[in-house]
Amino acid sequence: MDARAVLAAFKGRGMVGHLEALQRVADNNNGNRASGTSGYEDSARYVEDQLRAAGYTPVRQTFTYRRDDQTVETFNILADTAGSAENTVVVGGHLDSVQNGPGINDNGSGVAAVLETARWMKDAGIKPVNRVRFAFWAAEEDDLDGSGHYVNALSEDDIRRTALYLNVDMAASPNGVRSVHDGDGSDFGDDGPDGSKEIEDVFFRFFEENSLPAETTPFDGGSDYEPFLQAGIPGGGLFSGDVESKTDTQVQAYGGTAGRDLDPCYHEACDTLSNIDSALLQEMSGALAYVTAAYALAARN
Ligand code: PHE
Ligand code: ZN
Ligand code: ZN
Repeated sequence: MDARAVLAAFKGRGMVGHLEALQRVADNNNGNRASGTSGYEDSARYVEDQLRAAGYTPVRQTFTYRRDDQTVETFNILADTAGSAENTVVVGGHLDSVQNGPGINDNGSGVAAVLETARWMKDAGIKPVNRVRFAFWAAEEDDLDGSGHYVNALSEDDIRRTALYLNVDMAASPNGVRSVHDGDGSDFGDDGPDGSKEIEDVFFRFFEENSLPAETTPFDGGSDYEPFLQAGIPGGGLFSGDVESKTDTQVQAYGGTAGRDLDPCYHEACDTLSNIDSALLQEMSGALAYVTAAYALAARN
């Protein structure tokens, strides 16, 4: 896989079109797309239609959980490629928003990256040796319930057959950065299971071959990779930043505004279509596609 060719391809792909669709969904549904609401249902239908049009067969995994003393019924969406189930590569991001905003950067951007990776695999004619399972999680914002349900429902054998998990939670932060999870804990101390360092390295290879600065971000338990890591499955992924202030060093690497939040609209009503950096989304989506393809095609045993 040629990292520069993948980036060039993603410069011409329609991630922002997915964000426009999710913004419309929020606009039509009281301004949000939270799990258990009509906005979540419409978000899901959009993703499922896109997957079907690309030749996938999306499946809903329904479950219930408790939120504010109420039982919420919701579902994850899963769609598989062909390839060996013995080394399944799970690639996901959360589809739900918080209840008080449309969630276009958090996490429409991750949804757009995962969906466009799925579509690109078909368009590019990539034939996975290892099965890729694209996952759109519910209820991340309510404590990782969707990914937690998925991992909980895996048998010991299913866990053994899950080669790794790649996550994208925020990939278009308007004052953002390119960050990759610190697989071996060399920068932040919290390491993932064996194999997580290699995932980090493959992401960095994409950015280095494209002369794009990137940095690491810790596994702090704050997104859907956490249940996978807890089950001993190697993990990694991308994050463009939320409530941290941009440092002078980060401004030198990425541009933007020092002292301002990486995403000033994190979890707010202003996380709209105006709250995204579309060039950053192209780069992050290309990185996800590159790493997904690398693992889809890797010989493993
Ligand atoms: N990072 C998550 C999000 O905003 C929120 C979260 C933080 C979830 C900590 C679990 C633990 O999408
Ligand atoms: Zn969030
Ligand atoms: Zn999120």
